[in-house]
Amino acid sequence: MDFELKTLTPARICAEKCDALIVLVAGETGAGTDPVSKMVTLALKAGDFESKTGKLLGAYRSEGVAATRVLLAGAGDGSAKSVRTAVHAAMVALKNTNARRVLLSLCALPQVGQEAVRAAVLACADAAYLYSTTKSKPVEQKLRQVLVAVPSLAASRGGFDKGVGLARGLALAKEWANRPANHATPTMLAQAARDLGKLPGIKVEVLGPKEVAKLGMGSFMAVAQGSEEPLRFIVLRYDGGAKAEAPVVLIGKGITFDTGGISIKPAAEMDEMKYDMGGAASVLGTFRALAELQPALNVVGLIPACENMPDGRAVKPGDVVTSMSGQTIEILNTDAEGRLVLCDALTYAERLKPRAVVDIATLTGACVIALGGVRSGMFSSDDALAQALAAAGDSSLDLCWRMPLDDEYADGLKTHFADVANVAGRAGGAITAAKFLQRFAGKFPWAHLDIAGTAWKSGAAKGATGRPVPLLVDFLLSQVLPARAPARTRTPKAGAKSNA
Ligand code: BES
Ligand code: MN
Ligand code: ZN
Repeated sequence: MDFELKTLTPARICAEKCDALIVLVAGETGAGTDPVSKMVTLALKAGDFESKTGKLLGAYRSEGVAATRVLLAGAGDGSAKSVRTAVHAAMVALKNTNARRVLLSLCALPQVGQEAVRAAVLACADAAYLYSTTKSKPVEQKLRQVLVAVPSLAASRGGFDKGVGLARGLALAKEWANRPANHATPTMLAQAARDLGKLPGIKVEVLGPKEVAKLGMGSFMAVAQGSEEPLRFIVLRYDGGAKAEAPVVLIGKGITFDTGGISIKPAAEMDEMKYDMGGAASVLGTFRALAELQPALNVVGLIPACENMPDGRAVKPGDVVTSMSGQTIEILNTDAEGRLVLCDALTYAERLKPRAVVDIATLTGACVIALGGVRSGMFSSDDALAQALAAAGDSSLDLCWRMPLDDEYADGLKTHFADVANVAGRAGGAITAAKFLQRFAGKFPWAHLDIAGTAWKSGAAKGATGRPVPLLVDFLLSQVLPARAPARTRTPKAGAKSNA
């Protein structure tokens, strides 16, 4: 989809030829005399329309308006969150029309900040996303162009560019998490990463079973050994900062399908375990956005990717394996495989001498129970890092919630037969999983995001959400050291065409 940003007078908004004009309305609006403003005033007065968030009123071929359709959309208090809801509702309403070119006017809002503009762009892209990879005929995306009209370019440009860059990252993350496991094997994920390596500032390296064995990643290998699909350990680098600058490391859980292994899962909804590489997808999406936004910092992405399958060679409950850190692990439940692939990636991260490490994983059903689909679970041993992640969640409307890491939660991981067991009891399952990871993250500031509840929607709107790409991108942007000027001259054109 193609986005464009402009300032337009009310008269120009009425005169702009397009298939649909969406007008966001918040609170009281001025008594404009142009046809659109009059329509808003009349509709509010008659009680046929309210500025309450998400309310819609449609009109067709109205007098004095060049747009074929007009949609008034209530944007409540005009906050970024309300703007997101309003734009999403309006775009969904347009989905079954033939609209190709949409004019989205934010001009009637009392205040339009960077975050509201970004939210508007992201809501458009989100509502317009269509999955088509495994359909026999390509699904036609009718919507091609969105022109965003704002009162001031200066107050909107930054948010707009961020939104356009982020939209591409989000679309990539959704795409990979939605793909069925036979169309998103570890090898295919590695190819997706390699494709990102063609973008400015990004380099990619992919390790296979031999290299991973050489590194001593016995825990990761134990998960992969039940599958015919060879594992991949993907390393992405985005170099936007000075050479000597320590990188921020993102680690994404890349289980391309989680059957549970020998501790097999029940059949119902097992298909959804194709999104068990949602963490990996969010890392790929974040790198896609970094390539657009070109911030001045260094980022490394690590993705341990494999399937978790039952097989004659599969790891068995009770098996003890040796992780890259040297710690031995008793695998009491083969369905707690995420932590087993992440722990070796955490140990690998030590050699990068990172400023901070954030792992992102669809790690536990317990986190879905604890926080649902609203906030991701966030765990951190470092208060500054936790605060930065929480702030990034707030500013990007991609929320997370800090969870505890008291040492007592690790008691259940004790075992007679190894240094640590991979599961404790059912109680506090999201926290005990984080405590397991923490054992491998002692050498750097570390945080863990459990996105089991937020990366995917079940039910009617079934599919990947692309979360937490917005949170991660805002977090990374907050980590750019203040004194540094933009690193390179390869500034991409935000607002340029995107098919993603
Ligand atoms: N991938 C699952 C977690 C999950 C569950 C993600 C539901 C998304 C939705 C993970 O590998 C898993 O199976 N975790 C187990 C851990 C348990 C065996 C300690 C779980 O949550 O049941
Ligand atoms: Mn599992
Ligand atoms: Zn899993």
